[in-house]
Amino acid sequence: MDKLLIEGGVRLHGEAAISGAKNAALPLLCAALLTREPVTFTNVPQLNDIGTLLKILAQMGVQVERDAAANRVTLDASGLDNPVAPYELVKTMRASILVLGPLVARLGEARVSLPGGCAIGARPVDQHIKGLQAMGAEVRVEHGYVHASVPRLKGARLFTDMVTVTGTENLMMAACLADGETIIENAAREPEVVDLANCLVSMGARITGAGTDVIRIRGVERLSGTTHRIMPDRIETGTYLCAAAATGGEIRLTNTSSCYLDAVLDKLMDAGCEVTPERDAIRLKAPARLTAVSIRTSPYPAFPTDMQAQFMAINCVAEGAAMIRETIFENRFMHAVELQRLGADIRIDGNTAVVQGVARLEGATVMATDLRASASLVIAGLVAEGETVIERIYHLDRGYERLEDKLAALGAQVRRLD
Ligand code: UD1
Repeated sequence: MDKLLIEGGVRLHGEAAISGAKNAALPLLCAALLTREPVTFTNVPQLNDIGTLLKILAQMGVQVERDAAANRVTLDASGLDNPVAPYELVKTMRASILVLGPLVARLGEARVSLPGGCAIGARPVDQHIKGLQAMGAEVRVEHGYVHASVPRLKGARLFTDMVTVTGTENLMMAACLADGETIIENAAREPEVVDLANCLVSMGARITGAGTDVIRIRGVERLSGTTHRIMPDRIETGTYLCAAAATGGEIRLTNTSSCYLDAVLDKLMDAGCEVTPERDAIRLKAPARLTAVSIRTSPYPAFPTDMQAQFMAINCVAEGAAMIRETIFENRFMHAVELQRLGADIRIDGNTAVVQGVARLEGATVMATDLRASASLVIAGLVAEGETVIERIYHLDRGYERLEDKLAALGAQVRRLD
């Protein structure tokens, strides 16, 4: 298994380009199931999660054409004939559940493995199922699979019990081909939902309200092909900004936008960073030492749970104490014990962590436990004195394209070990 070796203590400086957003790409690729015409995506990140989803789509009968060098993928679902997402593939990536809505809408049938638990919590899919049932689908959960069938989905008024990003996306895609109007209340407002809606509209869907908590979809008979550029990855952007902030660095990130990152940029400025948004780029200049900043995760537009671990890392070396509240996932502090191995002072009580900044961290061997937890270890490793070895970096490969190349371009001493 690959490991990452980081020699800490280097201030990041220079420029790096941000990739397309993983969390936008996954639902967008699934949207191609809704049409018999080819759909082309550009700015597709090269990530293991994308590879997994393309495998799932290919075994369903979708023709996949991938030009990795150009970050382009064309999907042709005209031969879609096997509406099954098997456990062997789904178990590695929870977002595979995003095929459920499009399959039921297009073929009237789907058999998708339950994703099961994951490191950061139970993460059920009951809201996805409840929504499809409200639209007339018969849904059974048997032998670890969700079986859904219906001659044609019917528009309905849907209300999700909590804000769910993939739940909103699944139901919005399903509703595009339903008979009549669907209203999703308490919808997720994440920019990735808006990116998906924009693509669906360019395929002929009739959607209004994406980006607000009420989305209206008037079903159509069929959707057409399109070409869509995937939005920049706001979490990858935030992660590099944190890495620069923690090391007292000065960087410029290109191919990205500050407009989806208000909550994160505000906190970086509170921590003492100078942040300059540019057209399609962001500059950050960090002070010699950061000031601790407290955060509380919540659905968009509030502070994202996917940036919580990275902010824990920067608080570890900041001046003062910070309180970190995680309100989305029940078990998302696993990075804390690994950060402690590097010398961090963190106390956990339920969903709250209190981080007391220390003057220095020391390199050690640590274990990546999930995607964003791994990112926090990278940030801490970049600051720590001496060598840090991060094990199990396959988690990072799920969500960060060419991480070690981009960090090296910013001056970091980092190497992948086989
Ligand atoms: C998405 C993101 C993930 C991010 C998360 C929260 C993708 C591919 N992944 O995950 O990176 O961390 O949003 O911003 O976009 N819940 C239920 N029942 C459901 C659905 C959700 O109880 O049917 C709960 C979850 O357990 C969690 C909360 O709702 O506690 C929010 O989860 P959700 O927004 O659905 O996360 P994902 O869409 O899986």
